[in-house]
Amino acid sequence: MAVIGWKSIYETGIVALDNEHRALVEEINRLYEAVRDKRGEAVLVDILTMLEKYTVDHFQHEEKLMAEYQFSGLAEHQKHHRELIDKIAEFKNENTAGAEGLARELLAFLRGWLLGHILKVDKEYGVFLESRGGRFIE
Ligand SMILES: [Fe+2]
Repeated sequence: MAVIGWKSIYETGIVALDNEHRALVEEINRLYEAVRDKRGEAVLVDILTMLEKYTVDHFQHEEKLMAEYQFSGLAEHQKHHRELIDKIAEFKNENTAGAEGLARELLAFLRGWLLGHILKVDKEYGVFLESRGGRFIE
């Protein structure tokens, strides 16, 4: 496992959303560095709190654009978002004291979810919005 380097393949083509995705990758890399240095526990609560806010703001942003442009995959996409929101809540309910293992688990989960989600699910609206001239929509 290593730091995630941003690649153009992660881009949906919607600049505003790509910037939000990049910010999330940075947070995951911050968690990665902490876990690598065996201080995952120290940043765990911080990262979970950030994720709670991020998922609300970022998902609302994506869903608003999908609704605005009448993207037919919206309901399905919302289900994926719901899964992450529920998972973050589960992590938050765990005992985070002395939780180096939990930090590692969160890291593995986020990497898998994020890269899978951006590469597969988010790409779908990317192609759709771009085809409607939405490349620079905000
Ligand atoms: Fe999404």
